[in-house]
Amino acid sequence: MKALIPAAGHGTRFAPWTKLIPKEMLPVGARPAIALIVDEAIEAGADEVVIITSPEKPLLKKWFELNPPKAPIVWVDQLEQHGLGHAVLQAAEHFESESEPVLILLGDALVSGGNASSAMMEISKANGGASVIGCEEVPRERVSRYGIMKSASEISEAFFKLADIVEKPSIEEAPSNLAVAGRYLLDPAVFRYLKDQTAGVGGEIQLTDAIRRMLSEKTVFGYIYPGHRHDIGNPNGYLKALEAMNENG
Ligand code: G1P
Repeated sequence: MKALIPAAGHGTRFAPWTKLIPKEMLPVGARPAIALIVDEAIEAGADEVVIITSPEKPLLKKWFELNPPKAPIVWVDQLEQHGLGHAVLQAAEHFESESEPVLILLGDALVSGGNASSAMMEISKANGGASVIGCEEVPRERVSRYGIMKSASEISEAFFKLADIVEKPSIEEAPSNLAVAGRYLLDPAVFRYLKDQTAGVGGEIQLTDAIRRMLSEKTVFGYIYPGHRHDIGNPNGYLKALEAMNENG
């Protein structure tokens, strides 16, 4: 299985720190956050990790040159930024001919208290290698910050088949409070949909919109993985991540 980590964002929510040092390089103990995310992917079975970054962020490459991980890293530059879907699309040539689902880990989402990707891999394998989107329940008033899923049928309390998914809906339009939580295992068909995906919310090419279109062709499950997602893209989320990682690793 191959993994993909989009890590090209400007980090505007963490400025001015991010004017000098990328958010993915924030320390968690003696290593940067990105190293923990790469570890998560490799532990979950990734034999190659593609990191999408930008030429303004040379520190990420430098870190892995000095501290090589157990799987090869392939670097892809995103020269213009048009949203998460656009970032993921930059790595299409590395994934299109894959037969297995692609593991996508957002570079600013750290998970404490367990390996979300491993748990998702197990669930996918048990379901014929189907796509699985990691999710969490969020307070209703915050649904407009996330991709929100609609369940077609609940298989267990934490596992359901997806009927629909919508990026950053209003509270009124949100089909649930089940939010995409930084981890995806997606059928490589998603790249076909990304190729002609038009801009959505915020004028950006949204990964969520491509997944939504893929639902007509592929079964996708939602799974509330064990552990907690922390958004290290803002100072408060980062501090909370450190507290949680300190408590339960
Ligand atoms: C992205 C995704 C969104 C997801 C969120 C957290 O949004 O587009 O669907 O819920 O990450 O994983 P962003 O935080 O980049 O706005």
